[in-house]
Amino acid sequence: MQTALTTRTINATDIAQAAACLRAGGLVAFPTETVYGLGADAANPRAVAGIYEAKGRPSFNPLIAHVADLEAAKRIARFDSRALALAEAFWPGPLTLVLPKTDNCPVSDLATAGLDTVAIRVPDHPVAHALLMAFGGAVVAPSANISGHVSPTTAAHVKADLDGRIDMIVDGGPVDVGVESTIVACFEQPLLLRPGGLPREAIERVLGMALARPPEDPATDNHQPLAPGMLASHYAPRTPVRLMASDVQPGEALLAFGPSLLPGIEDAKAVLNLSKDGDLGEAAANLFGYLRALDGAGATGIAVMPVPAHGLGEAINDRLRRAAV
Ligand code: TXA
Ligand code: MG
Repeated sequence: MQTALTTRTINATDIAQAAACLRAGGLVAFPTETVYGLGADAANPRAVAGIYEAKGRPSFNPLIAHVADLEAAKRIARFDSRALALAEAFWPGPLTLVLPKTDNCPVSDLATAGLDTVAIRVPDHPVAHALLMAFGGAVVAPSANISGHVSPTTAAHVKADLDGRIDMIVDGGPVDVGVESTIVACFEQPLLLRPGGLPREAIERVLGMALARPPEDPATDNHQPLAPGMLASHYAPRTPVRLMASDVQPGEALLAFGPSLLPGIEDAKAVLNLSKDGDLGEAAANLFGYLRALDGAGATGIAVMPVPAHGLGEAINDRLRRAAV
């Protein structure tokens, strides 16, 4: 299969072509503000099966349905008052809500892995928005990487993983946020299923209450995990990752954060700094690209300096822990 790649300046023809490709059951990678997604028509089970196949993704792992706006979301999922408050506060944006399906939910059972809930979000990216408007229906999209690899933040990352396995890549340049959306399940007790691009603190402010984490770490839970995609090694580079580094060992590359220098840094195989100023937003945007780059540096390991745990730091530390498994 030949994968078509658009140029960086996306025009109406590119969008129409991508929407037609989705309508025909094709697989289209497109930018969102968080990471690039691999999209398929949510209502077309064969197209959805193609996503699992292209990614090599375990089929028990359900997908997020992307829609253009809240109206479209209401056709798919039932919103209680809390879910509505979150949608109104944060959509479009890096928040995914897990909600009960509507009775005539068009999202195929394969995409929700047979659950009676559906994960749904309205992305905040002009290309994603234009594509969803042109397509008209829901588009299910996991991150556009081979299952288990680091999520793509540029079209080049997508091409490196999926060239020849998908129909089209819409190149909208590097993404803004750089980590996946925050996932909240709106059940009786709202749960933070995955920390992500929207900090927990912002969500708790709107809810007026603390967000609970699922009872056990889903990465190690033997029971039906609440966010089944949260497998421990979900974001693993091939090079071993060492967290909380206070020095650089011989042969290692360094993923730095902030201004301070570590002993051994002069001999590091490569050094990339997530944010010299200690800015967590900048660090999130750089995270996956830098992990990919250091993974290719021929180092024996990647040493990672500590990153603060507040705000976007919760998602960054979550992804780093998974990268270190
Ligand atoms: O930022 C993002 O969320 C990106 C962009 C492309 O939108 N997408 C993304 O998708 O990260 P993916 O497939 O890599 O992660 C989706 C997560 C998985 O952990 C999955 O288990 C969880 O959402 N999920 C999906 N449906 C669910 C459901 N009904 N209940 C619980 N978890 C669900
Ligand atoms: Mg993913």
